[in-house]
Amino acid sequence: MTEQTLVLIKPDGVQRGLVGEVIARIERKGLTLAALELRTVTEEVAGQHYAEHAERPFYGSLIEFITSGPLVAAVVEGPRAIAAFRQLAGGTDPVEKATPGTVRGDFALETQYNIVHGSDSPESAAREIALWFPALNS
Ligand code: CMP
Repeated sequence: MTEQTLVLIKPDGVQRGLVGEVIARIERKGLTLAALELRTVTEEVAGQHYAEHAERPFYGSLIEFITSGPLVAAVVEGPRAIAAFRQLAGGTDPVEKATPGTVRGDFALETQYNIVHGSDSPESAAREIALWFPALNS
């Protein structure tokens, strides 16, 4: 069954010139792009996107980081797209959890600066896609 997931190439990924690398990996896997946009996110959208982390100690610096410069937001589509992208991304901690061969395992050292975000469930994907691309599936 075809599924959609929300992918962010975060400001660190854009600054380091990794947009093409990440998109190439998405496409090589067989996933396709349903939406793609470079944008600088407002604190309001960032806060809604990361609402579940609002009580975490890293929340303030996470919002500061994600709003610090342009990022790439995308809707990625394909069979089991949510799990497939999370496999490509690797675990959240790029050293302890992400393995070499994944985006985070290959390119990141710190958990906050972990290059990409991917929705973690069908419910999150629906909520995040509606937040970032409200016109897409309407
Ligand atoms: P992401 O997959 O976008 O989901 C939440 C983000 O919070 C995560 O990637 C990291 O960028 C960040 N994050 C999660 N845990 C920590 C942590 N312990 N310290 C700093 N940032 C974190």
